[in-house]
Amino acid sequence: MTKTVLSCIQPTGHMHYGNYFGAVKNWVDLQEKYACYYGVVDYHAMTMPYDVKKLRNNTWELIYNLLAVGVKAENLFIQSLVPEHTELGWIFNCFCSVGHLSRMTQFKDKGKDSEEKSKDAFVSAGLFDYPVLQAADILIYKADYVPVGKDQDQHLELSRAIAQRFNNTVGKEYFVMPETLHSETPKIFSTADPSKKMSKSAGEKHFINVFADEARIRKQIRSAVTDQGGASDEMSPGVLNLFTLLKSAGRMDEHEALMKDYNAGTLKYVDLKDATADGLSAMSNAFTEKKAEITSDKRAIKYLIKQSSEEIRKIAKETLREVKELVGLLNVK
Ligand code: TYM
Repeated sequence: MTKTVLSCIQPTGHMHYGNYFGAVKNWVDLQEKYACYYGVVDYHAMTMPYDVKKLRNNTWELIYNLLAVGVKAENLFIQSLVPEHTELGWIFNCFCSVGHLSRMTQFKDKGKDSEEKSKDAFVSAGLFDYPVLQAADILIYKADYVPVGKDQDQHLELSRAIAQRFNNTVGKEYFVMPETLHSETPKIFSTADPSKKMSKSAGEKHFINVFADEARIRKQIRSAVTDQGGASDEMSPGVLNLFTLLKSAGRMDEHEALMKDYNAGTLKYVDLKDATADGLSAMSNAFTEKKAEITSDKRAIKYLIKQSSEEIRKIAKETLREVKELVGLLNVK
């Protein structure tokens, strides 16, 4: 039987090269082989304080971005158009312990960040509970594989724990255990601070937008942190990250040549930076062109995605119906 793949991304403004090389490029490649469902998870984007006027627009913008990099329209859905996710999320709340949720490092980090910024920062219950909704996103499609970056490993473990507890409770191996799939580069780092992952929440300089123009990419790569001082035989994280970006951008020959220079001790960082900026700019230019093509008819795209969401919803509805039977709830009709 064809295996099922599920993954999602939050519409929080931009899509960066961490998202792309860590997960979305894999989404595109997996479409050839498996039944794939990819969600733009707008309910998740509400967990941190956000601008209500921007969310809907960010959701559509991310849809255009995903289409521009090669995700197929028929595989895409918008989470709020499939409300069964949140209903299953509630059911899963009752199969997940507070203790397990308290150990989620992403919650601890994001909560801590907000509190550091302001003493009376608002940390929502949604932020705490969010991995349960993520488990529902995955299990509602009975996904075999979940292509994500390294930062999602702990959430995937929690999804498996929920599935296991559910199966034990209902006395049936109903849910399959979803497997995590990593790309070759499951963690891309910030070029401005290579000790941190590339991410939107850390601020503008900590991510490179996939749709940035060449000048912006060059500026960001030129100012990338390379050596942080101190003698060490190991390649510094910043230099390693640039090599990773260069390779991910498909510049294998240059990667090899510059690596030789590095090993010989003759590498000029400016050459590595220029080659990386060239590689990323070429990719970004191609994606931006494609996006311009796609967005020439936004109405048609919106119509298509509403249709695909409706189609994908059929699977979610069926799972939820079965789940409600299994846990002793009533089904409408
Ligand atoms: P999100 O929106 O933060 O990121 C989307 C995907 O990009 C990956 N990613 C990275 N990979 C490598 N290096 C990085 N610096 C980097 N930054 C982000 C993420 O690992 C992710 O795969 N909780 C999820 C969204 C979600 C989800 C799901 C994912 C909701 N439901 C169900 C999978 C299955 C999140 O916030 O991803």
